[in-house]
Amino acid sequence: MYFTGIYSFLFWKDLYMPKKPHIQVIIMLSKLPINLDKVDKKDIDKEILRAAIIAELDAVNLYEQMAQLTDNKDLKVILMDVAKEEKTHVGEFQALLLGLDKEQEKELEEGKKEVEEELGK
Ligand SMILES: [Fe+2]
Repeated sequence: MYFTGIYSFLFWKDLYMPKKPHIQVIIMLSKLPINLDKVDKKDIDKEILRAAIIAELDAVNLYEQMAQLTDNKDLKVILMDVAKEEKTHVGEFQALLLGLDKEQEKELEEGKKEVEEELGK
């Protein structure tokens, strides 16, 4: 996916929605393209994967927000299906990242345990 066009257009702007003036779309974008000159060579793939995960999560939010905005049932179904596919993409990039960043893999588990302990689950 690319962060041009509609992503730039929607960035930190409210959508003009006369039928639904209460709806506000806020897009949170990662810094892309990555400035590779400032990234240590050994960290490039990890940084790319983190940026890719952020991009996919942004896409999930965007498609879900768009689905909420439209009254077109077909469009809503397709947008929600695409949002689901973006979640799969998050998993693909995360699987690769966890293979490269063992600290992240460990801390992901730590975070999960902390939540379970704090919530008593
Ligand atoms: Fe994607």
